[in-house]
Amino acid sequence: MAIVCKSQAEIEKMRHSGRILRQVLNMVRELAVAGASTMDLEHAAEEKIKELGARPAFKGYHDYPCVLCTSVNQEIVHGIPSQRRVLKAGDIVSIDCGVVVDGYYADAAITVPVGGATTPELQRLLDVTRESLYRGIEAARLGNSVGDVGAAVQEYVEANGFSIVREFVGHGIGRQLHEEPQVPNFGVRGHGARLEEGMVLAIEPMVNAGRPGARLLSDKWTAVTEDGSYSAHFEHCVAVTRNGPMILTE
Ligand code: MF3
Ligand code: CO
Repeated sequence: MAIVCKSQAEIEKMRHSGRILRQVLNMVRELAVAGASTMDLEHAAEEKIKELGARPAFKGYHDYPCVLCTSVNQEIVHGIPSQRRVLKAGDIVSIDCGVVVDGYYADAAITVPVGGATTPELQRLLDVTRESLYRGIEAARLGNSVGDVGAAVQEYVEANGFSIVREFVGHGIGRQLHEEPQVPNFGVRGHGARLEEGMVLAIEPMVNAGRPGARLLSDKWTAVTEDGSYSAHFEHCVAVTRNGPMILTE
């Protein structure tokens, strides 16, 4: 399977999908308050996606049951919303969502402190993870390679004393949720596929406060840190253009 490059018209369509997705995430993040269950977020997101004329990208994908992934504290990614998972002050929750509009996918994630505030150390984990995404985006330029993106993310995260999760990676995106190439959040500058005009990458660093290891819970979806440390996740879809990286999900 080859990397599918998108025309300018296709990139505009993907930006439209991305903007709709951002509206969903902006609404859901406000619901991440103490006493809310992650299923409350799920229900609101599903409603909003419908209202905006989009279709959820995750629900039904390899039998995944929900429109959101909600990963709390030591959960890294793919946490399944549940009525029993009630958020409390001090928690952090990653909200990951995907939509399809007119055949084109968008995929993005944010991690937010429940009720808007957490401890200084966890706030630093969120800030470093978000900034590492922007370092990766900056590297998504013509002439660079996939390895430059990963190296930019990894160097920033490790310089700040946190760890990159290796078990899950970013990906190409377009008419499918997951396309080539894989986009690891680690790498060697100059290695991997060359970035070409029209490539669209979902860059999604997952950063652990402690050791890098991950394991899967018995639900076969939820990935948690091996050492029980907390983990954060941010994601944007980014087009590689002659004018530099263009974020499609803001
Ligand atoms: N952003 C995640 C990814 O690209 C979310 C996928 S959830 C799934 O892997 F349910 F669709 F698998
Ligand atoms: Co993704």
